[in-house]
Amino acid sequence: MAATSCVLMDRGNNTTCTINLHGATVVSWRVNNQEQLFVSKEAIFDGKKAIRGGIPFVFPQFGEWPLGPQHGFARIMRWNLEKGPERMASGDIEVVFSLCDNPLIRNMWNYQFRLTYRLILREKELHFNVNVYNTNKEASFYFTLLLHTYFKVPDVRRCQITGLSGCTYVDKLRDCNIYHENRDAVTVTEQTDRIYRNTTQEHIITNVVSGRKMRIQKYNFPDTVVWNPWAEKAKELPDFGPEEWPNMLCVEAGRVTHPIVLQPGTAFEASQSLQVM
Ligand code: BG6
Repeated sequence: MAATSCVLMDRGNNTTCTINLHGATVVSWRVNNQEQLFVSKEAIFDGKKAIRGGIPFVFPQFGEWPLGPQHGFARIMRWNLEKGPERMASGDIEVVFSLCDNPLIRNMWNYQFRLTYRLILREKELHFNVNVYNTNKEASFYFTLLLHTYFKVPDVRRCQITGLSGCTYVDKLRDCNIYHENRDAVTVTEQTDRIYRNTTQEHIITNVVSGRKMRIQKYNFPDTVVWNPWAEKAKELPDFGPEEWPNMLCVEAGRVTHPIVLQPGTAFEASQSLQVM
């Protein structure tokens, strides 16, 4: 029988976080019983396909990839539970997952690496710490990485996102040109797929669940991807309900514009915190 595939972090007060070992995908984050993440009703949990929603872990490639599946392999591999869930002295709950190269991975990406993913569940906050280690003594490798967060929202058309003003972006739905964002608060009113570059360390999203705000704080993740498929594109996604697009907004912290080159024996570290305000 397959070992259980979900890890539950329970902080008390109906504040929990559930992580599926398939991709180390966070599939639920509840604060006082309020779900903060969107997972499609049509999401497929077959241990093969990427889970449509929550927080898929994108590595070592954001977007299309000639060597393997779109957005890389990390979101479709079974990760190891390294530590926890454990209650810390502060009352917060900690858990650590890891993923190393294996023969299946080496077939598409022939490098020696180790990923660790540490999550801390606080009262109104979920903290993520990502480490990538190059465990080889001779070869360097490069990668892009992103936390593909699907926020649950009552109506995406009413959300505003701060922290993008003054940034340049690539619009994946248009061309390869670089555009300039001049809105203080970005709204999403049509199909959107943009890579904002060199964004500030903090974004606030308004009108998430219960009309509250969500604060994203990030470190060493210079890019922010904003994505919503809207009605037409949603119909093309087999694991996404055609009527669900108003209820999600992806605001994804990552390092995708300039890949990281990791020298032998060195490590990359980045982090993100999500906080309900
Ligand atoms: C976004 C990309 O991050 O993810 C989009 O910018 C993509 O281009 C979307 O369509 C969803 O990707 P997937 O592989 O999960 O369907």
